[in-house]
Amino acid sequence: MTILGSALSLPNGTTLPNRLAKAAMSEVLGDPGTGAPTAELMRLYERWGASGAGLLISGHVIVDPAGRAEPGNVVITDRRDLAALTEWATVAQQHGAKLWLQLNHAGRQAPRRMTKQPVAPSAVAMKGFAGAFAAPRAMTEHEIHEVIARFATAAQIAQEAGVAGVQLHAAHGYLISQFLSARTNLRDDAWGGSVARRSRFLLEIVRAVRAAVGPAFPIGVKLNSADFQRGGFTIEESMEVARSLEAAGIDLLEVSGGNYESPAMAGGGEVPGEQRQSTRDREAYFLHYAERLRTVVSLPIMLTGGMRSRNVMEAALQSGAVDLIGLARPMTHAPELPRQLLDGTALVAPAVNIRSRFRRIDDALQVMWFQAQLHEMGQGRDPDLGLGAWTAIWRGLRAMLWPKRTAPRRLAPRPIGAAA
Ligand SMILES: Cc1cc2nc3c(=O)[nH]c(=O)nc-3n(C[C@H](O)[C@H](O)[C@H](O)COP(=O)(O)O)c2cc1C
Repeated sequence: MTILGSALSLPNGTTLPNRLAKAAMSEVLGDPGTGAPTAELMRLYERWGASGAGLLISGHVIVDPAGRAEPGNVVITDRRDLAALTEWATVAQQHGAKLWLQLNHAGRQAPRRMTKQPVAPSAVAMKGFAGAFAAPRAMTEHEIHEVIARFATAAQIAQEAGVAGVQLHAAHGYLISQFLSARTNLRDDAWGGSVARRSRFLLEIVRAVRAAVGPAFPIGVKLNSADFQRGGFTIEESMEVARSLEAAGIDLLEVSGGNYESPAMAGGGEVPGEQRQSTRDREAYFLHYAERLRTVVSLPIMLTGGMRSRNVMEAALQSGAVDLIGLARPMTHAPELPRQLLDGTALVAPAVNIRSRFRRIDDALQVMWFQAQLHEMGQGRDPDLGLGAWTAIWRGLRAMLWPKRTAPRRLAPRPIGAAA
């Protein structure tokens, strides 16, 4: 039997049935007007529930309407959508997979169309993107505590809905990652300065979530190995944060890297001074980092980014550096891949090459093409490998500019913790 099929015990006592996890991918299948999960989302997770992956991490679920990254994000601020969340948990887990919700706040990566003035640790504007992101303002101490409470509320509601765990999104340049990075966190109070202070926001969220969900409920964190930007979050800082997270009692650390300005999570970043020649290094973007991380923490590590061949996955697990393999893009067009890797009917994910003639739009095109495949499955259809680049762009733009039903910017502000 392949090591991919062996169970994994987490520190809190939970067991995952195997070593393959669907990594988070924003589905944008929430209702753009209300942030509630839709029937399309249920259909997609019904399919993924039978994919063979032992762990399904949802696309980011937003804890504050002002922190949405896209129209169509699922938003949890109170119990009003508990029935739909419960249905989501039920359909996804009916074949034995565990569903964890990824909780997030976009901070300055909230587009201007939806949030006129986003919040961030400091007023550092996004570079580029043709003005799609407004300059943020620095959060007040009160707002920081309020957002921490929002993460705890959302986690508690997720637990009530029957999901098996939560993951805090501390990577990819969203709010928590903005606090971690010295490039975006210029604060000189207790939330900025040294790496210990920059990580306080994340650690307080972990503490508040743990207090809300109790000791037996898994809490994961997705952390950048680095921002891959000058003056940004470094590998050494990331390892220090990982040590603090282990001490704070998290159950799983997923490693990734990059942000909107420097999209290393999709293979766009290079670790300075490191060569990538072997298949192993080309595929497993953050394996070198995970190997270093293993020398400083003993908590379970999930490696996501570029993993495509069974032998690379098995070697990463066998080396002891990582405990779980995260698959994102392949799950959009090969949703049965985990089962096939487990039973040996596939040894590698099918290759797709999504590129246009214009390099500048290729990062956005990638997201739109893979998201379009999720929407095919949400409609009850099979993925469409023949989907053209321009069709994917058109569909992505349409979803962004004219989301169905109420315009997302009119979403009513929601106080936290209000009863349904
Ligand atoms: C369409 C799309 C949406 C994504 N949304 C999220 C997200 O909501 N949260 C997250 O942590 N990562 C997100 N990612 C990044 C993936 O989780 C993963 O880190 C990245 O795609 C690299 O893994 P892969 O090579 O297996 O695709 C997204 C990726 C894609 C392609």
